[in-house]
Amino acid sequence: MRHVQLAPAPAGSGLKPIQGTGHPGVLELLRFFRDPVKMVGSRREEFGDITYIKAFGLKFVIPLTPDGSQLVAMNRQKAFAAEPAWGFLIGPFFRRGILLMDFEEHRHHRLILQQAFTNTHIKGYLQDMQPMLAERVARFPVGDSIRLLDEFKAVTLDLALAIFLGLDLPRAEADRINRAFIDCVNAGMSIVRKDIPGTKWSRGLAGRAVLEEFFYRHLPAKRAAQTPDLFSVLCHAQSEDGHTFTDEDVVNHMIFVLMAAHDTSTITLTTMAYYMARHPEWQRRAREQSRSLPPEISYDTLGEFTILDAIMKESLRLNTPVPGLARRAIEDTEIDGHFVPKGAYVSAIAMVNHHNPALWSDPETFDPGRFSPERSEDKSHRYAWMPFGGGVHKCIGLYFAQMEIKTIMHNLLLRYEWSVPEGYHWKLDNTTLPVPKDHLPARLRAL
Ligand code: HEM
Repeated sequence: MRHVQLAPAPAGSGLKPIQGTGHPGVLELLRFFRDPVKMVGSRREEFGDITYIKAFGLKFVIPLTPDGSQLVAMNRQKAFAAEPAWGFLIGPFFRRGILLMDFEEHRHHRLILQQAFTNTHIKGYLQDMQPMLAERVARFPVGDSIRLLDEFKAVTLDLALAIFLGLDLPRAEADRINRAFIDCVNAGMSIVRKDIPGTKWSRGLAGRAVLEEFFYRHLPAKRAAQTPDLFSVLCHAQSEDGHTFTDEDVVNHMIFVLMAAHDTSTITLTTMAYYMARHPEWQRRAREQSRSLPPEISYDTLGEFTILDAIMKESLRLNTPVPGLARRAIEDTEIDGHFVPKGAYVSAIAMVNHHNPALWSDPETFDPGRFSPERSEDKSHRYAWMPFGGGVHKCIGLYFAQMEIKTIMHNLLLRYEWSVPEGYHWKLDNTTLPVPKDHLPARLRAL
């Protein structure tokens, strides 16, 4: 097959050029959507440590080693910026979100945002979510074909309304806001990237307008009173050097954080449910542990859910909700001895490492035991397991996500048993974030 260079390496630099295929971009994107793990694996066989793939009319450099992922995420040379890459993918819908900021500006905003994720706030959110989630999971429908993705999506949305917004919205209004979010998220991976009526892109722009109007409308009340929800916390958050957010900042960060929190947690829950349905012995072990622990999770008991923890980590490895960290080179630089020209798009793709047979034993097998202290396969390299990213943009909500996910799963295990038919294997839709095409219909039975 014909290999094509991304750009010739400067003479005398000692660097090698990055190679990709001569295939048309649409073909590459379709292959990626169809089976990203297979595509990435075959790239490693063909190109070794690094390659580029074509998507959305651009070329994305993909490091194929954990060292390469680490270099991009840690960005010690400050050679990569997030905004020009994430901005291209999701900018019109999530502009001025924290992930779309770089360097000093990012640091300034992150220091204020961090105030909403201190231990004290995290403990407060965890305590507040216990009764709400227990009651919500108790209302799951039972039957032979319950689409678990939809159920988890509804629960995580209700959680967002309660814990993030602190608002008691009528169902129709909650659905309208949820729809607007979904439209914004789906628009990012749209192949047509213009405001043409009827396209995902134009629905995303309309969704953004709905969200802005919604948040500006509720903002004065949140500024006026201090309540424990994230919305109010952001209105009053102050960094140690006394900086606060403007109204515009609060609205932009709320829209981004809600997006960052919602589908990611839903996908993780769905993936855990899928593997526990296909591996009932793990479901049984997790249930036994849940029964041995108090029905309400507290900050101090969170660490005792070791089985759920291993299942969650393995699920995040096998189906990573945020497939890659998008960046753009703002100067000529290098990765693993290869020349990366200024302006190149770069993506550190988690599944590259999550399915690398040099880092994991039998990587395609669901095996939560690999995270046990004795085996610690995730410690083979700092970036062997990277579902929450790394460096300055590392997920700010990773503790929140784990609390939410464990609380929902703990309640589910105590109340229900679920299964999928013998031989069932899900098919993922990778055109947005990776979700099962059939929404995971499962048999859910009350215990
Ligand atoms: C299992 C669930 C989650 C996963 C897998 C996940 C994954 C990620 C990843 C990979 C990034 C880094 C992207 C990059 O560097 O390009 C990120 C950033 C971020 N996440 Fe999460 N996330 C999850 C849940 C959450 C939750 C619950 C929240 C909020 C409560 C949240 C808020 C954020 C924010 C604000 C950023 C941007 C941080 C920055 O740019 O400084 N995430 N997340």
